[in-house]
Amino acid sequence: MRRFLILLPFLVMSCTSPQPDPEPGVRSRTFGTLPDGREATIYQIESPTGMVMEVTNYGGIITRLTAPNRDGIYEDVVLGYDNFGAYLEETPYFGAIIGRYGNRIADGEFELDGETYSLAKNNGENHLHGGIQGFDKVLWEAEPFSVENEHGLILRYESPDGEEGYPGNLSVTVTYTLTADNRVIFSYQATTDKATPVNLTQHSYFNLAGPSSESILDHELMLAADHFTPVDEGLIPTGEIRPVEGTPFDFTEPTPIGARIDQDDEQIVNGLGYDHNWVLSGLSSDMRLAARVHEPTSGRIMEVMTEEPGIQFYSGNFLDGTLTGKYGAVYEHRSGFCLETQHFPDSPNQPAFPSTILRPGETYQTRTVYAFSTDADS
Ligand code: GLA
Repeated sequence: MRRFLILLPFLVMSCTSPQPDPEPGVRSRTFGTLPDGREATIYQIESPTGMVMEVTNYGGIITRLTAPNRDGIYEDVVLGYDNFGAYLEETPYFGAIIGRYGNRIADGEFELDGETYSLAKNNGENHLHGGIQGFDKVLWEAEPFSVENEHGLILRYESPDGEEGYPGNLSVTVTYTLTADNRVIFSYQATTDKATPVNLTQHSYFNLAGPSSESILDHELMLAADHFTPVDEGLIPTGEIRPVEGTPFDFTEPTPIGARIDQDDEQIVNGLGYDHNWVLSGLSSDMRLAARVHEPTSGRIMEVMTEEPGIQFYSGNFLDGTLTGKYGAVYEHRSGFCLETQHFPDSPNQPAFPSTILRPGETYQTRTVYAFSTDADS
């Protein structure tokens, strides 16, 4: 009892003193209302070391992600909007989960077990990123979690049989984890009651210089890939797996993104720059380094590790200054880049590519990590 009386003044003081900084963890707030009246929430996930990631359960979109520069200054390194309405109006997949099939399926058609399936055509004659209302435009169920120093969000979505033309009810879980050592871990899981293609990815656009309209052409990129999949004018793979050696697609040594982006090369012309799938070394399903990006002015480094066989490097070629994002930044041509880990585009029509078909009784399971550091750390 005596001990309690001695402690009492301290207890009273700590209740009445101003609120200390909130503990690292997950907090939420309303982001906006969908046309059907449902509410979208933003979850703010904070790591003990200072990184902040904001995610909305609409499309699983990462709306903000801060990372330190070489002087320890945290800045937002992803493109996006600060208001919900802008995401509803027009977005080139800023920060979103992509599914049921990331990237293109030729003519929006594929054959599976003797049946032909027709998908929504939302990219000329082709199907792109899951269709008209892909996983980037649906409301996910969200559950925040904290385990020791790691905080994150579990997102769940039940994709009904026939959605955008795909067969089978697909149960999807995507987990985002922010770790104390400045990593964002993406863990994807899915099961189905009918065979279906599945190829999930994350479509964050990065500018490691911080929030600006500056181009990403001075960022130095390394891709751990000796081959890539050339495409036709519609960005559909021709089926060939071509060596990168001697081409503008050779990023095996760190090279500025802009160094060869305007070369007179058939593949650069077809992609309007870089918008291709690189074949990661060994086609292994082990977690391994796929890409490293270094931004020379801030010193920021982002590494991508994945269990996927491929990575789409997209150099923001369709950004053209018509979209204005957070902080009033006008998203000019090539002011953001994406590194989308994935199975190869159009795999359901390419028997020689690794299969993307998930069958009942199987579990689709894959992980990707974005790890942030600076050139002062090494
Ligand atoms: C992917 C595609 C690109 C483009 C962007 C979004 O990266 O490969 O061609 O559609 O998404 O604009």
